Amino acid sequence: MMGPGASASAPGKVILLGEHSVVFGHPALALAIDRRMTCHLKPSGSMRLNGFPLDPERNPHVRHALETLWEGGPLDIRTESMIPSGSGLGSSAALSVAFVGALQARQGESDPEAAARAGFDMEFAAQGRASPLDTSASAHGGGVAIKSEEEEGHLWTLERDGKRWCVHDIPVPEMTLVVGHSGVSAPTGPLVGRVRSYFDKSGFAREIVDEMGAIAQEGEAALKAGDLELLGRLMTKNHKMLSILGVSTDRLNKLVDASLPHSYGAKLTGAGGGGSMIALTDKPELVCDAIARHGGTPYAVRTGVPGLQTEPPL
Ligand code: PMV
Repeated sequence: MMGPGASASAPGKVILLGEHSVVFGHPALALAIDRRMTCHLKPSGSMRLNGFPLDPERNPHVRHALETLWEGGPLDIRTESMIPSGSGLGSSAALSVAFVGALQARQGESDPEAAARAGFDMEFAAQGRASPLDTSASAHGGGVAIKSEEEEGHLWTLERDGKRWCVHDIPVPEMTLVVGHSGVSAPTGPLVGRVRSYFDKSGFAREIVDEMGAIAQEGEAALKAGDLELLGRLMTKNHKMLSILGVSTDRLNKLVDASLPHSYGAKLTGAGGGGSMIALTDKPELVCDAIARHGGTPYAVRTGVPGLQTEPPL
């Protein structure tokens, strides 16, 4: 057991291709970004979260982790986030991974795979449905690809309800991404539920979901080959399909349209319904200007960042 306090941090992420379709077991690509969530734990007289008594109903992720992973006494949990919540940048996954990492650190351990697995369970329990994409990107850092089979770079495989996600490490090439926040925060669970009911009702929706998986697979090859033009075209195509599925918004579409003249491609990232879009570009200033002129909040993000880190390192 470590000393009284323990901390861990984990990054947010952007999804380059494949959100929503990944929930159905299709391929997807995500990159960790330089915006982190930090979680500090210390023993306490009662369970507290950020200075208030912990409300398990309002914090299903934390409740699930405590029920399944923690046998010690009450904790004072403090979080510090550089990831806006409901922004499509993986704040809840980063919280899950950082919290599990801090529990591990209390026990003198650091195990990104175990944090990715436990984080996925937490997201699944809180959202009712989820893929391991966000939690894997956050735990591993760098870049991850979900594939249906284990290939070179395989990290770990998760299975749930007949679906199988083989998580792989992918090299992150030099490239510039600009994020545009729409200013609207949207929780992930209801959007995932909306796609599910459309999928259950409509053969057309099922075809779109399959096609998004094929696009993500093609995108992985484009990323590997450093073909940013193809990757960008695939991102824009993926955005159109997400719009057809009903998870984009007028604001997001406006920000995507405004970015496209200066980008290889652009799309919403994460669950949609608000949140953020991303643009792949070599003219970040022009894209930031265009996003700001159309009412979004732009920021350039750095990729190629580490995943789960205990602080101080064990
Ligand atoms: O908006 P975020 O960061 O929660 O990303 C959600 C990604 C989905 O594919 C829509 C859901 C999932 O669990 O993969």
